[in-house]
Amino acid sequence: MKTPRFALAALVALPLVAAAPPSPEALASQARGLAGNLMLSLQGELFAAMKEGGPVKALDVCRVRAPEIAVATAAGTPWKIARTAFKVRNPSNAADAWETAKLEEFRKRLAAGEEMPALETYEVVESEGRATFRYMKAIGTASPCLACHGAALKPDVAAKVKELYPEDQAVGFATGQLRGAFTLSRPL
Ligand code: HEC
Repeated sequence: MKTPRFALAALVALPLVAAAPPSPEALASQARGLAGNLMLSLQGELFAAMKEGGPVKALDVCRVRAPEIAVATAAGTPWKIARTAFKVRNPSNAADAWETAKLEEFRKRLAAGEEMPALETYEVVESEGRATFRYMKAIGTASPCLACHGAALKPDVAAKVKELYPEDQAVGFATGQLRGAFTLSRPL
């Protein structure tokens, strides 16, 4: 399914005033930049922790740092930024109805031959009575991810995951599969 286009015609018809909201494309570009920053920070800390103490130590780092890094990435901006997936490790990352629909769309687009980095989508939705811009970008599975999200975790890693995340669902992935998505939103 194609990303819906917005009421561009309506925007053009309005007089150009200073308070005009940024275009959907401009908002998507902001979101893309933040998602990129979050990915770099997360991977930086993750790989440093893996190098220092292996996946068991890195699990602790992930649990504490992943949400903190997301908050720090959005600090000083009107954005909320997080990660989600069909199968989550942390239940607080579970997808809502909009996110589930978009993950499904990513899955279809991937099956139809689109490349993982091209999988993004955005839309203006009504949330708690106000217009909200929502953006999602797919996260693929790469080989370093398999230590903690693959089909055969080492016993010590599997035990630590179970201890920290008794309801973990985020295992069994293979390289190249859709692991999840960055999900961003801001009120308009
Ligand atoms: C050292 C183990 C480890 C490695 C390696 C790892 N992750 Fe994770 N991953 C975690 C943990 C722990 C969480 C839960 C973080 C939290 O509590 O928010 C998580 C959560 C996630 C989430 C959020 C959705 C969910 O399941 O809660 C995504 C998306 C994700 N990881 C993708 C990846 C990708 C992509 C890679 C490879 C680049 C990767 N992970 C490598 C441990 C790991």
